[in-house]
Amino acid sequence: MFLLDAPITRRRQVARGMFVLGLEAPEIASSVRAGQFVNLGWAGGPLLRRPFSVYRADGDHIEVVLKAVGAGTAQLLGMELGDRVSCLGPLGRGFELAGRSAVLVSGGLGVAPMPLVVRDARTSGMEVTWVHGARTAAELCAEAEGDTLIWATDDGSQGFHGTAVAAAPDGDVVVACGPNRMLAAVAERWPHAQVAVETYMGCGTGVCLGCAVPLRRGGYDRACKEGPVYHAADIDWSALPSHLAYAVGA
Ligand SMILES: Cc1cc2nc3c(=O)[nH]c(=O)nc-3n(C[C@H](O)[C@H](O)[C@H](O)COP(=O)(O)OP(=O)(O)OC[C@H]3O[C@@H](n4cnc5c(N)ncnc54)[C@H](O)[C@@H]3O)c2cc1C
Ligand code: FES
Repeated sequence: MFLLDAPITRRRQVARGMFVLGLEAPEIASSVRAGQFVNLGWAGGPLLRRPFSVYRADGDHIEVVLKAVGAGTAQLLGMELGDRVSCLGPLGRGFELAGRSAVLVSGGLGVAPMPLVVRDARTSGMEVTWVHGARTAAELCAEAEGDTLIWATDDGSQGFHGTAVAAAPDGDVVVACGPNRMLAAVAERWPHAQVAVETYMGCGTGVCLGCAVPLRRGGYDRACKEGPVYHAADIDWSALPSHLAYAVGA
């Protein structure tokens, strides 16, 4: 784990309201695995750092992808190239990628860990099918890729008319990221799928217990340390707090 003072080096738009930010973070770029995340803080930012999956890593740079959903993400997207961000990572446990084929299922901002999944799956010699869904065509991330690429939209404006889960074929390994209600549907169809869950986070390093995830076997563990990647069947989806934005029923 590294704590770096990282300048913002790139910015591009990849869907309506969705932007990629590049950060110069060499130690993280060279060691990050698919599904791991960084916890970002900045001068004048929120009290708590904000977690973001690493989207891509090349050379000395990592990228994150985000939308403005609140004060912190709006501030990040308002920063200029050259502005500096405190970057803690890589954090958490990533995806295990082994087998002949990987099916990637992403909803909306759930694209975030997928380019690194494509990279790591290809390194393992796997054939990659990526099914990417969003509410409407304009919200689909333009950078989805794979040996096979399937689009899905809730309104039918591009690709399959329905959810990414419904559009997806089976594969040796299923990897999913998106709203927790989508991941709960993934758990129904593929109990052994690997899913990256959404929780609130504080420290990102296993200390504050702010990221508790309810488990089917009882008790909780820490999304930032034992997660954020879990086997879908291991999570008690119905016990995720119902008043929070990331609740299954939200
Ligand atoms: C491991 C992990 C990886 C993540 N990766 C990404 C990513 O790659 N790209 C991305 O855009 N977002 C990602 N998130 C979610 C992101 O961290 C939150 O959206 C962000 O912290 C919101 O900060 P804010 O100050 O803008 O919003 P706030 O003002 O804190 O909240 C705005 C709204 O977002 C909701 N919210 C806040 N935090 C979360 C959260 N962690 N999950 C779901 N809803 C939340 C709030 O309930 C509220 O409705 C990730 C979260 C985790 C736990
Ligand atoms: S965020 Fe602090 S323990 Fe997980």
